Amino acid sequence: MFEELRAIQRRFGYLPADQLYDLSAKLKIPVNQIHSVASFYPHFNLAPPPKFDVRVCADMSCHLRGACELREGLKQAFQGAPETEISIRDASCFGRCDAAPVISVNDTIYSGLTPEQGMGMVRAATSGQPLPPVLREHNRQALSTDPYRGAGEYLGVRYLLESQDFSGAIAILKASGLKGLGGAGFPTGLKWEIVRNAPGQKYIVCNADESEPGTIKDRFIMEHMPHLVIEGMILAGLVTGAKTGIIYIRHEYDEPKEVLQREIDRCYANGVLGPQVFGSQSPFNLSIFVSPGGYICGEESALLEALEGRRAEPRNKPPFPGTNGLYNMPTVINNVETFTFAAAILLRGVDWYKSQGRNGMAGLKFVGISGDVERPGVFEVPMGISYSELIYRYARGVSGNRRLLAFAPSGPSSGYLPAEMVNLALDFNAVAAAGSMVGSGAVVVCAEGRCMLDMALNAVRFFRNESCGKCVPCRVGSQKLVSLLTNWTIGRSSASDRQTLEDLFQATRMASICGLGQIMHAPIASVIKHFPDVIEEHLGRRQCSAGVCFRGQA
Ligand SMILES: Cc1cc2nc3c(=O)[nH]c(=O)nc-3n(C[C@H](O)[C@H](O)[C@H](O)COP(=O)(O)O)c2cc1C
Ligand code: SF4
Ligand code: FES
Repeated sequence: MFEELRAIQRRFGYLPADQLYDLSAKLKIPVNQIHSVASFYPHFNLAPPPKFDVRVCADMSCHLRGACELREGLKQAFQGAPETEISIRDASCFGRCDAAPVISVNDTIYSGLTPEQGMGMVRAATSGQPLPPVLREHNRQALSTDPYRGAGEYLGVRYLLESQDFSGAIAILKASGLKGLGGAGFPTGLKWEIVRNAPGQKYIVCNADESEPGTIKDRFIMEHMPHLVIEGMILAGLVTGAKTGIIYIRHEYDEPKEVLQREIDRCYANGVLGPQVFGSQSPFNLSIFVSPGGYICGEESALLEALEGRRAEPRNKPPFPGTNGLYNMPTVINNVETFTFAAAILLRGVDWYKSQGRNGMAGLKFVGISGDVERPGVFEVPMGISYSELIYRYARGVSGNRRLLAFAPSGPSSGYLPAEMVNLALDFNAVAAAGSMVGSGAVVVCAEGRCMLDMALNAVRFFRNESCGKCVPCRVGSQKLVSLLTNWTIGRSSASDRQTLEDLFQATRMASICGLGQIMHAPIASVIKHFPDVIEEHLGRRQCSAGVCFRGQA
């Protein structure tokens, strides 16, 4: 259905009602079902869009790098312009947090613009000039993870086909201790084993949805090592007996998609993919599915719903995808980085992997660093190094020679940790013991002078905006949380607010269906814990020493 909807949108710029009725007749699907799917995804327009649809990313890294000024400047510049001509609105993270602030104009994404440049570009476009081309720079780096140094030879697949030792491959993954790198950290060897032992037709799905603010490492990996992502998926197919793989990629990732598609084509041409992988009796076919959009699509069961052509609403669990995944069949669903390391480990062995870590930790990690740093970007680093090393060595320190105030180890989901904890190691257990998480490795840095209440509100607002609305605690609770925190930033609070917050934390954590609702309290809970003075000055003295709050109307 998505391809049909996309074709209509390409033709008309939106989805006219009569076209949806025609599609309903053609596909023999009730029109209300088609409408319910089309209206769920941000990528589809149900009304004609304005001539210039300008969207400014409002999330953490862009918020720290001038997005508010850019958006307000644009709004002022085009005040009074007809709605059919231009709309300027907020958007969620575009996955280019290392080049913030980021805007999109008619779905073309521009990054790293000053407010003046952004306004100049939109002004020029509205006065009839063509939008500028997007410059793509690809400085491909040599990476320690890549055994082939850039050109996939798929030796791991060859060796596994020769040895046919599929249980041995699972044992290697287990011994390496590789955990899922999409956020939840489930042991990879165990996941593959569950699927191997489950009966029926099986699937391998790569989660390349990457939509959480600050998370940019999968894009980097796909662009640098598409062959290892693909090799990891083929290996998972051989080990589990799955014959079909799907890479689920966010629709803003045109470049990684092109890189992956070129590599997939090369694999088919060379017999690495297809009915007989390397001439063996084992088939493996691989395709790319472009997401119709939304952060919730990254939640594994929501992603499977989207693949099946429905609204991306998470399923109740258990059962889990390992036994009841795509089309209710056993499914390995792993993150891009997890497949990459699985391939590297199966080729180079457990000792190699373990030797890459520091301070007792195994392996390497790809970490995205954005926000208030001199050199934002994605870095391949040993597990076990400190966040201090990440921020001061890899990202060259806090920008503008400011002091560090706080950092989020993994975007909004991890909450914020104070500068005093910057020597914490990049270690799943250590960070969990500190009340946060390594998660997907999306470090967002806040310099002195930032208001941590404002940063918490920004992160909670992201969760509110991206809640799919399926369950009440998350749908209603996220809105309530945003209203309460917004009130705190404009001087409205009441004695019962703290208790209300506690009740909301508990209700959303315990009664939400998926991780989004269960974690949405993290940003504000962490600020209450680590920055009590900030809360006190806002609630007690109605002051914001950062000068960010109390500008709006109470
Ligand atoms: C709201 C939400 C969004 C998520 N987004 C992603 C994502 O973009 N990419 C990803 O790999 N995992 C994401 N996850 C985690 C997946 O549900 C799942 O745990 C992961 O894909 C499993 O792969 P792994 O074991 O390799 O980490 C998300 C989870 C939640 C709750
Ligand atoms: S917790 Fe939120 S995002 Fe998850 S299913 Fe419920 S409403 Fe949807
Ligand atoms: S692109 Fe703006 S936060 Fe990611």
